[in-house]
Amino acid sequence: MKKIFLAAILLVAAASQSIHAETVVSDQMRAVRNDFQDRKFGIFLHWGIYSMLGDGEWVMHNKKLDRTEYAHLAGGFCPSWFSAREWVLLFKEAGAQYVTFTSRHHDGFSMWNSAASDYNIVKATPFGRDVIKELSAACAQEGLKLHLYYSHMDWQRLDYPTGSCQNCPHDPGTTNWETYYAFMNQQLTELLTNYGPIGAIWFDGMWDHKEKEFDWRLKEQYELIHRLQPKCMIGNNHHGAPIEGEDFQLFEQDLPGQNTAGFSKDQAVSNQLPLESCQTMNNTWGYSITDKNYKSSAEVIRRLVKAAGMNSNLLLNIGPRPDGQLPDEAVKILQDVGAFMHKYGSSIYDTRGGVVPPQPWGVTTQKGKKLYIHILNHEQDGKISNEGLERIDGSLSFMMPKGKYSIKQITRMDTGASITFRNESEGTRVFLHSRPTTDQTDLVLVAQLN
Ligand code: GLC
Repeated sequence: MKKIFLAAILLVAAASQSIHAETVVSDQMRAVRNDFQDRKFGIFLHWGIYSMLGDGEWVMHNKKLDRTEYAHLAGGFCPSWFSAREWVLLFKEAGAQYVTFTSRHHDGFSMWNSAASDYNIVKATPFGRDVIKELSAACAQEGLKLHLYYSHMDWQRLDYPTGSCQNCPHDPGTTNWETYYAFMNQQLTELLTNYGPIGAIWFDGMWDHKEKEFDWRLKEQYELIHRLQPKCMIGNNHHGAPIEGEDFQLFEQDLPGQNTAGFSKDQAVSNQLPLESCQTMNNTWGYSITDKNYKSSAEVIRRLVKAAGMNSNLLLNIGPRPDGQLPDEAVKILQDVGAFMHKYGSSIYDTRGGVVPPQPWGVTTQKGKKLYIHILNHEQDGKISNEGLERIDGSLSFMMPKGKYSIKQITRMDTGASITFRNESEGTRVFLHSRPTTDQTDLVLVAQLN
């Protein structure tokens, strides 16, 4: 008996140690991560010289463009309508609380005045303006955080040791990991020294090397970032479970736990780190002149709400045009999301995924003793689905499964009207007085918990 007891104590001690190892994080970083989760909604911007070709940010690769020929695009890049302030005001109006900007994408072009490479927006274009400087000033002025996307791989530099990329330079004579690694760290140092507080570095492209033995030397790079700016978070779109040094987990084109896009099959959802799902408005990240396949505003709003209900942020992408303006469709979606957030933002910001996990009828978010119930049962085309809704005693109702909660009262968020509910063996049954309507993007109820 004694032995069993001792074994149990050791087991508990071992378990708490391993949990501890996972959760060692400074109070300062814990506060930063919490603030990030509170912000809930960010705008992703894919903008570079590729925008001029109007065929997404992968155009150089996909069209097998000659790298030196492609580089000449820089000489014609002059986004005359660009105004960081106008962009940021629009994002703020939409309810976004941070912006993630592509500082350097896979094409290797830097969107700031980099000392590490002349292949940049100030030195290589007639535009000659440092857009990261302008964005950082506009974000600071409006209270939005600036995050920077940074590509690990490079289709332009000859010292980058190309991995699986087929249409990339592969000359062992010029490849030099040491100079390439030093170059990346010099650039990251510039970004984290000259542009004020950066909310996060968002890495991408590591999947170019699938071989296990390829060493990206991330530990050292992550330490450099955290040393330069201890409050700068690190995220990496490596499509795997987060590794040491990373402060949030990313999901590409999917909500946490889903894998419709095929990038998340190896990702268990972290219950420790903040989560962020990045999604496009149409099908492309960088500007596309042909891709008009935009989601409806209602669909975008429901994705934002679903993300919040799954304890995740939504990073909503826009591919600005080469003239420096945002596509009209994107502006319209932002305005509609803004109208929704203006009314219902308090059921999203500062919340976490609610005590009732996602259900066929929708999701819940929670702030203290307030549980926000979001009824989202619309199909992609906007039609109402009956999933999770049942007609009982002549009234439409849905079930909230039993859990560690009890409800004092429920009201509708828009009208304040009181909502009837009753406890049943499976959980709480909530009665809707009327059917959600097709123009009701999200029917929000507020439950006061005991
Ligand atoms: C993928 C794409 C890249 C894009 C990123 C955004 O990694 O390759 O172009 O920037 O997704 O999540």
